[in-house]
Amino acid sequence: MLVSFYLAIALLEASVVFAAPSSLEDLLSPRSVVSKRPSHPIAPKHLGHQFPTSPNRTKTCYVPSYGNGKDDSANILESIKQCNNGGHVVFDRNNKYTVATALDLTFLKHVDLDIQGTIQFSNDTDYWQKNAFDQVFQNATTFFQLGGEDVNVYGGGTLDGNGQVWYDLYAKDIYILRPILFGTIGLKGGSIADINMRYSPQWYNLVANSTDVVFSNITISGASSSANPAKNTDGWDTYRSSNIVIQNSHIDNGDDCVSFKPNSTDMIVQNLYCNGSHGISVGSLGQYIGEVDIVKNIYVYNISMSDASDGARIKVWPGISSALSGDLQGGGGSGAVSNITYDTMALSNVDYAIEITQCYGQKNLTLCNQFPSNLTISDITVKHFTGTTSKKYDPLVGYLVCSSPTVCSDITIEDITVKSPTGNNGYQCGSISGIETQVNCTKTT
Ligand SMILES: *[C@@H]1O[C@H](CO)[C@@H](O)[C@H](O)[C@H]1NC(C)=O
Ligand SMILES: *[C@@H]1O[C@H](CO)[C@@H](O)[C@H](O)[C@H]1NC(C)=O
Ligand SMILES: *[C@@H]1O[C@H](CO)[C@@H](O)[C@H](O)[C@H]1NC(C)=O
Ligand SMILES: *[C@@H]1O[C@H](CO)[C@@H](O)[C@H](O)[C@H]1NC(C)=O
Ligand SMILES: *[C@@H]1O[C@H](CO)[C@@H](O)[C@H](O)[C@H]1NC(C)=O
Ligand SMILES: *[C@@H]1O[C@H](CO)[C@@H](O)[C@H](O)[C@H]1NC(C)=O
Ligand SMILES: *[C@@H]1O[C@H](CO)[C@@H](O)[C@H](O)[C@H]1NC(C)=O
Ligand SMILES: *[C@@H]1O[C@H](CO)[C@@H](O)[C@H](O)[C@H]1NC(C)=O
Ligand SMILES: *[C@@H]1O[C@H](CO)[C@@H](O)[C@H](O)[C@H]1NC(C)=O
Ligand SMILES: *[C@@H]1O[C@H](CO)[C@@H](O)[C@H](O)[C@H]1NC(C)=O
Ligand SMILES: *[C@@H]1O[C@H](CO)[C@@H](O)[C@H](O)[C@H]1NC(C)=O
Ligand SMILES: *[C@@H]1O[C@H](CO)[C@@H](O)[C@H](O)[C@H]1NC(C)=O
Repeated sequence: MLVSFYLAIALLEASVVFAAPSSLEDLLSPRSVVSKRPSHPIAPKHLGHQFPTSPNRTKTCYVPSYGNGKDDSANILESIKQCNNGGHVVFDRNNKYTVATALDLTFLKHVDLDIQGTIQFSNDTDYWQKNAFDQVFQNATTFFQLGGEDVNVYGGGTLDGNGQVWYDLYAKDIYILRPILFGTIGLKGGSIADINMRYSPQWYNLVANSTDVVFSNITISGASSSANPAKNTDGWDTYRSSNIVIQNSHIDNGDDCVSFKPNSTDMIVQNLYCNGSHGISVGSLGQYIGEVDIVKNIYVYNISMSDASDGARIKVWPGISSALSGDLQGGGGSGAVSNITYDTMALSNVDYAIEITQCYGQKNLTLCNQFPSNLTISDITVKHFTGTTSKKYDPLVGYLVCSSPTVCSDITIEDITVKSPTGNNGYQCGSISGIETQVNCTKTT
C-alpha cells in the first residue's frame, strides 16, 4: 500500500527527494499529498501591474520531523536546500515541526513551501532575544527571514509563535525584543496564501525590502490566555516595499490590522475582515530625524472592521521629539503621504471611523502646532463608510487634526454614513483647510 502510494507521487513529479525518515512516526504515517499551488487572482482591485510568473516546480522534498519539541530547523534547512531552484518542499500535514534556531531563508529561488502541518517556534525567550534577525526599524526582530526570488508559501498549515510566554514576559519588561512571526525580507516575486498564523509574540508579518508579493487567504489570531494582553500584534507592517497586495483574509488581533510603514508604495489591501485591531493605518511616520518617509499610491478597499480603535488612520509624528511610551518615541522626520484611498468600509463598534493626526506621541497640541510636522499629507480620499462607532467618543465619529494647513492638503471625505451610538456624526477638526464643508466639525482645535 505505502509503496504504491510513494510510487504514485514519484511518477507525478520529475524527481522526489526522500530525506531519511528520522522517527518511527515518520516511517508509519502516510505522507501528505503534494498541494496544488493555489491561484488567488488579485481582485476586485488590481495594481495595473504585471506580477512575475512563477514556473511549475519539478522536484519534491519532504521535510522530516523529530516530534516531541525537538528542534527541526536543520531538517527544514536541509530539505529547502535540496529543493531550492525549482522544487516543492512539503511539510507533512501529520507533523508538528519545532523551530528553535533562527533560520536565514533569504537565499530562496524558484521554490514552493507547501506547509500542511504546524510549525511552532520554541518558547526560549533568551535564545530568540539573542538570535532573532535584527531588522533595525523600530527594533523589529524576526524568527526567520524569507527572501530571494519567486517563492510561494501555501498548504493550509499553521505557523505558531508560542506567544504566551512573550505576552507574560513583556508585561514584566517592555524592553524585551519580541520576534515577529513571519519575516518577508527582500523577496522579489512571490505569494503567501492559505496559511494560518497564530500567537505571534508581536507583529504577525513584516514585509521589508520586498516587491511583487501577494498575501491571500491568511487567518491571523492568538489572544493571551493570561491577564497580560497580546500587545503590538499588527497583522502586517510593510516597509521599504512596493507592489504588495494583501487580500481575502481574516484578522483577529490587538494592534494595526495593516500598517504602511516608511517607504510603502503601490499597494492594495482588500476584502479583509479585521476584528479587535487599531484599523488600517498609514504610519506611524516621521519618527526619525533626518529620515525621509514616503507612503503613496495605496488603495484600501472593502474592509469589515469590528471592535477596533480606528477604521482608517493616518498617524504622523510632529516636528518636535515626543514619546508615546518608553519603547516608542520619535518626531521631526520628514517625507510625504500621498494618493491614499480608503474605499468601502463597514464598521461595527469602532472608536473613530477616521483618524488623521500629525501629533502622534505628543499630548501637548500647542506644541504640535508650534512645531508642525515635517511630513506632508496630501491627496487623501476616504469614501463609502457605513456602520456605527463605539460609545468611546460619542458624539464624535472621527478625528481630523493636522499640525498646520500648510502640511495637509487635498483631503476628501465623502459618503460616510457612520453614526455614533446616539445617532451623531461629529468630528474633531483642526488645521485642515475646507474640512468643515465636508464633515460636521463639532469640535475644533
Ligand atoms: C503547471 O502545472 C499545472 C497543473 O498543476 C498545469 O495545468 C500547467 O499547464 C503547468 N504549466 C506549465 C507551464 O507547465
Ligand atoms: C517551553 O517549552 C518546553 C518544551 O516544549 C516546555 O517543557 C516548557 O514547559 C515550556 N515553558 C513555558 C514557560 O511554557
Ligand atoms: C533592506 O535593504 C537595506 C539596503 O540594502 C539594508 O540596509 C536593510 O538592512 C535591509 N533590511 C531592512 C529590514 O530594511
Ligand atoms: C529601541 O528600543 C530602545 C529602548 O529599548 C529605544 O530607546 C530605541 O529608541 C529603540 N530604537 C528604535 C530604532 O526604535
Ligand atoms: C483558504 O485556506 C484554507 C486553508 O487554510 C482552505 O481550506 C480554503 O479552501 C482556502 N480558501 C480559498 C477560498 O481558497
Ligand atoms: C468584500 O469582502 C467580503 C469578505 O470580507 C467578501 O465576501 C465580498 O465578496 C467582498 N466584496 C467584493 C465586492 O469583493
Ligand atoms: C472579536 O474579538 C473579540 C475579542 O477581542 C471576540 O470576543 C469577538 O467574538 C470577536 N468577534 C467576532 C465577530 O469574531
Ligand atoms: C525612503 O525613500 C526616500 C526617497 O526615495 C529615501 O530618501 C529614504 O532614504 C528612504 N527611506 C528608507 C527608510 O528606506
Ligand atoms: C494612486 O494610487 C493608485 C492605487 O495604488 C494607483 O492606481 C494610481 O495610479 C495612483 N495615481 C497616481 C497619480 O499615481
Ligand atoms: C504645552 O506646550 C506649550 C508650548 O511649549 C507650553 O507653554 C505649555 O506649558 C505646555 N502644556 C503642558 C500641559 O505641558
Ligand atoms: C522640522 O520641523 C521643525 C518644526 O517645524 C523645524 O524646526 C525643523 O527645522 C524641521 N526639520 C527639517 C529637517 O525639516
Ligand atoms: C451634519 O449634521 C446635520 C445635523 O445633524 C446633518 O443634517 C448633516 O447631514 C450633517 N452633515 C454631514 C456632512 O454629515
